Amino acid sequence: MRHVLICAVTLAGGALAGVSAERVTFNQQIAPILHQNCSVCHRPGEAAPFSLLSYADAQKKAKTIAKAVTSGSMPPWKAEPASFPYRDERRLSASQIQLIQAWVEDGMPEGQGAKPEPPSFPSGWRLGPPDMVVEMPSAYHVPADGSDIYRNIAVPLGLKEDRWLTAIDMHPSARAVVHHVLYFADPNGKVHERSQAGAEPGFSGMRAGGASIPLGGWALGAQPHFYPEGFALQLPKGSDLVVQYHFHPTGKPEAEKSVIGLYFAKKAPERSLTRIQMPPAYSLFAGLDIPAGEKDFVLRDSYTLPVGVDALGVGAHAHYICKQLKMTATLPEGGVKTLLQIKDWDFAWQDRYYFKELVSLPKGTKLDVEIHWDNSAGNPRNPSSPPVRVTWGEESKDEMGSVSLIAVPKVQSDLLTLYAEMAQRQRQLARKAMVGNPEIAKKVRQILSE
Ligand code: HEC
Repeated sequence: MRHVLICAVTLAGGALAGVSAERVTFNQQIAPILHQNCSVCHRPGEAAPFSLLSYADAQKKAKTIAKAVTSGSMPPWKAEPASFPYRDERRLSASQIQLIQAWVEDGMPEGQGAKPEPPSFPSGWRLGPPDMVVEMPSAYHVPADGSDIYRNIAVPLGLKEDRWLTAIDMHPSARAVVHHVLYFADPNGKVHERSQAGAEPGFSGMRAGGASIPLGGWALGAQPHFYPEGFALQLPKGSDLVVQYHFHPTGKPEAEKSVIGLYFAKKAPERSLTRIQMPPAYSLFAGLDIPAGEKDFVLRDSYTLPVGVDALGVGAHAHYICKQLKMTATLPEGGVKTLLQIKDWDFAWQDRYYFKELVSLPKGTKLDVEIHWDNSAGNPRNPSSPPVRVTWGEESKDEMGSVSLIAVPKVQSDLLTLYAEMAQRQRQLARKAMVGNPEIAKKVRQILSE
């Protein structure tokens, strides 16, 4: 019967008028959709603003739910469908969206029978006991209201030898205020010595400081995963772990003191994970200089792979006025594949997108990245009103922009070739940018002196 109904709904384009079929009810069709796709974030204690577990929860919010799923703003998933499917993709099917629309148009019937059981979510370490547990040294106090806070807090790990990271998970103490975190390693172990700014631990800004190595992140609603067998990230001895928080005030004061679990490989991996960042250095050398009022400022970067790689996933970073970004791969035998496309960049959702299966990119594959910014007054996310000239920098009113491929060389011995090529390219771009532009030269010198 449900089958028939879905077809009828599809044919009627969402309107149920004239369709003589069973009604769509919360108990039958809607609860399973919400429990599977929404409750992981929409439940007590999580950072989503209300629960979606019971009939009463859903009925109260029905109209905004229908709007959010129709516009695609919920469940949050910024990447467009790409050439290769992503793992843990959060997307409702067209028929699920139509069922929600039909249910709302029909007055949100609860339906007969037993109330659906809300899903249970495991507590504790979801990947089993970590090899190392790191507790943040002191709590960060997030005020009841005000704008979002970005804060870096560093802890020395005390590693006497290099370790190989296969996963990170974390337990926030005040889940409701933690929207996401990004992890970095500072191999010099210096960031924790940086003086605290203000009364709370850590320092603000969007760059973790030091020679930071990105280690991934944690985001509301995301599942922790191990890297595939045989892959790991190097965590050099003496490193600090730097955790960059995005706090979103909830209406009451909260104190966040997270516990972070690190998982290590037993031995050095056979193949090393690396990151191909385009443009390099978050566009520092790419001429990121956006005039006030400019509606569509575009930067492009191309890089032809000197060695074959297997790609695990893609990630992107930009600040508030970025609008769109895209990474494609043109294969040597022809054919353009989309690896990542985001049409409505939102700084609040810094997800990584991992492919379900490794994506093979042979030597000679051309990677292309295109990033668009909107620095006009018409951009509701513009932090400056009226708009001002925006250049590269780590504050939220400055911009950065890059898309990174997370990959491993097909042959381990190619890693050095890849590193050497990428380093040479970055040096060339840096030299060219610094010679022509004293402002950039100053920024580079400042970063190097940190
Ligand atoms: C990954 C976590 C997550 C998932 C999964 C999720 N939400 Fe949300 N939702 C949020 C957060 C956080 C907000 C607050 C606004 C924001 O940060 O974008 C929100 C806000 C909303 C709002 C308020 C209006 C709006 O669009 O901002 C609605 C309605 C909503 N969610 C419905 C849903 C429904 C329905 C689903 C499942 C189909 C869902 N959400 C899945 C995290 C999530």
